[in-house]
Amino acid sequence: MPFTPAVSDAPEATPQAVLTSDVVEAVASEVRVGLTATAKTLSPWLFYDEEGSRLFEQITELPEYYLTRTERSLFTAHADEIIARASEPSGRDPAPLLTLIELGAGTATKTGILLAAAVRRQRTVVYQPVDVSVTALEAATENIRANIPGVTVRCQVADYTSQPLPLNRLPNTRTLALYIGSSIGNFSPEDARGVLRNLRAQLLPGDRLLLGTDLGPSSLKSVATIEAAYNDRAGVTAAFNRNVLFRLNRELGSDFDPRAFTHLSLWNAAESRIEMHLVSRRAQQVHIPANSAGPALSFNFASCETIHTENSYKFTPARVRQLLASAGFELTHTWQDEQRLFAVNLATAI
Ligand code: AVJ
Repeated sequence: MPFTPAVSDAPEATPQAVLTSDVVEAVASEVRVGLTATAKTLSPWLFYDEEGSRLFEQITELPEYYLTRTERSLFTAHADEIIARASEPSGRDPAPLLTLIELGAGTATKTGILLAAAVRRQRTVVYQPVDVSVTALEAATENIRANIPGVTVRCQVADYTSQPLPLNRLPNTRTLALYIGSSIGNFSPEDARGVLRNLRAQLLPGDRLLLGTDLGPSSLKSVATIEAAYNDRAGVTAAFNRNVLFRLNRELGSDFDPRAFTHLSLWNAAESRIEMHLVSRRAQQVHIPANSAGPALSFNFASCETIHTENSYKFTPARVRQLLASAGFELTHTWQDEQRLFAVNLATAI
């Protein structure tokens, strides 16, 4: 989790651009570490340049990609109840008002449903989206300002995984942190605990967390359903996966031939995760010119050697409870769809 651009807090304004050189620097050192390892890896945050973010938006609309659609329908069905439960009075706070903060907000398309419910309940709400992507935050801000009166948007460009967020807590409000879309699924169990502990450290007891988690296989949900979501017929996920190589060529001047790598997604039952890889079609060598992170490098790929580009963990309800507890949260409510595809979990900071 090494990408740590400066936090820029730009209340009431469009987010400040993260210095491009910071990003290129982070990409360069990530690639150096990941591709010199014995089992080659690239971190999933590398997917999300402008083109990758566009491809991800396309993925969320694919027929096979049930995650976004299912979470959205859970929000549509239960937004008022979610906001009401998050606003439950406590001893120290008999009539709490919520401030919403969102980790990895992206374009915040689903969040609007929760914000509208918060506005229904409390008339106005402050919303603090946090993301590493300036373009995504700009789209989020635009969209919410235009469509949901009553919301004050305060963007922060930051990497929430590795640094504390200045929370700008308003006096007498309770924070509802949103970490939705199964973004937590990209992290190993230890790293997921770390991300949630980092968040917990910035909350007060009684603050809330709404966590979206994709569910593992069950009697109602087959492995094939999960596999299809990461290997769609239209090939958008393959393009998303391969885009990381185009990105490295664009930003680092490397000479990957992206057509010489095949998209592979596979279910790892032991780890309860989907893995995405890029498989080298043949023996080949790739070069990266010298950059600020170090000297020029050449990498050899054997035929069929893979670059492991993503893990997407799938959870059981018991695992969600345990993960939350290990980070200082108590799970209080879970909403699931009838097919048990996806879960939205509400927890309280202890
Ligand atoms: C954004 C991490 C939730 O794991 O499903 C979609 C990313 N990767 N298709 C996921 C992704 C391939 C997505 N998350």
